[in-house]
Amino acid sequence: MLRHELNKLKDMGLLLEVNDEVDVKFQLGGILKKYKNRRPIIFNKVKGYKIPVCGALYTDREVLYKLANIKHEERIFKFMESIANPKPVKLLSYGPVMENIITNNIDITKFPHPYFHEKDSSCYITAGMLVVKDINTGKRYTSIRRFQVLGKDKISILIASPYLTNQFLEIEKQNKPLEVAIVLGYDVPFLLASQVSSELYGVDKYEIDSALRGEPLEVVKCKTVDLEVPAYAEIVLEGVILPNVREKEGPFGELMGYYGQQAMHPVIQIQAIMHRNNPIYQTAFPCREEHLANGLLREVELFYSLKRLVDVKDVHVTLAGGYRFHAIASIRKKQEGDGKTAIIGALSSIKDLKHVVIVDDDIDIFDRDDVELAIATRFQASRDLVIIPDACGSSLDPSHTLKGVTDKMGIDATKPLNNERFERCKIPNF
Ligand SMILES: Cc1cc2nc3c(=O)[nH]c(=O)nc-3n(C[C@H](O)[C@H](O)[C@H](O)COP(=O)(O)O)c2cc1C
Repeated sequence: MLRHELNKLKDMGLLLEVNDEVDVKFQLGGILKKYKNRRPIIFNKVKGYKIPVCGALYTDREVLYKLANIKHEERIFKFMESIANPKPVKLLSYGPVMENIITNNIDITKFPHPYFHEKDSSCYITAGMLVVKDINTGKRYTSIRRFQVLGKDKISILIASPYLTNQFLEIEKQNKPLEVAIVLGYDVPFLLASQVSSELYGVDKYEIDSALRGEPLEVVKCKTVDLEVPAYAEIVLEGVILPNVREKEGPFGELMGYYGQQAMHPVIQIQAIMHRNNPIYQTAFPCREEHLANGLLREVELFYSLKRLVDVKDVHVTLAGGYRFHAIASIRKKQEGDGKTAIIGALSSIKDLKHVVIVDDDIDIFDRDDVELAIATRFQASRDLVIIPDACGSSLDPSHTLKGVTDKMGIDATKPLNNERFERCKIPNF
């Protein structure tokens, strides 16, 4: 789990260790941002706490591939294979996360929850992995959500998933609480499995984790709720989402670097804490780069949506587009119309996707210059631009919130078939 990956990062010379004292209020986040959230960092001395904090561990594509032992070309098939063939977990009677179990005098403010942006309403748990069981099927559902710290034993949760919202509303109707666990200190398979869209696949995300890691995820039972958590996690908070309780949440600096507005959100009552001896606290800078894992799973959805329609080579959901608003796809064009068809497939594959560029397979979609070359030389706006006004988009895009709808745009930057004017210059033997 986390410790193993920190050691791997250290061995690869990729982990920056900060031994000067840092403040969780603004300073820690400021340093993560200074390194563009792409350099894994561990802060060993955190002012007022004895617990080190690590961040930006899973933010760089190449680093993540190395940690997960995945090759870029294989990633989509490996993820899809794990979704299609989930594997059972292994239940242990004891795990290191049980070294300390606290059920009285709960105080989560003893952990160094960072305070990131100027106007944030509070400190937040930003890398917390929420674990719940589907109330109808019992399948385990994980997702990273943001949790606003309200006090020693209370946090609020922003549930931005129709699936989870429906689960909670269904149980709230019966005036019952929803049992949850929040896990800090996990690794890449656990993270990637959590980003699989439950709407699409309806699977047990723990079992996807087992398939991805190539061995069973080892779990232990929680103390006060009917849930299992990774045996090697660093910190686990157990609690319930209270029915019919809402508290003010936000503002909070979030995706794309804008503030999410204040609103009323459900509240979690924390009733137990489990943690390892000398726990390490995991955080994620709440801006955009931390969503790489989410983008990697959106690439799976995009790839398979295109595969049905055209001969797709590769897809790229980009960092600068928050890993959800922008995508580039390369296709092996077989007939005129493939480019536009790919635009239709792409824009219908991910709700939040706003702009997509389709290029030929000689273009490197991970090289911005190459993509720009395709737009500059193969695209004519009057013929190759597709605009769909007023579709559903993401409320995390401020330009969408103006009207509550968003325009979608596709750029067909593929060249016409069999036209020698598009032959690219080559130097023999280079
Ligand atoms: C580091 C990180 C932070 C995230 N933070 C949030 C968040 O604050 N709120 C949210 O709704 N989704 C957040 N996500 C995305 C969800 O975890 C993701 O959409 C979910 O796990 C996929 O399941 P779903 O399709 O059922 O929502 C985050 C993802 C990552 C990788």
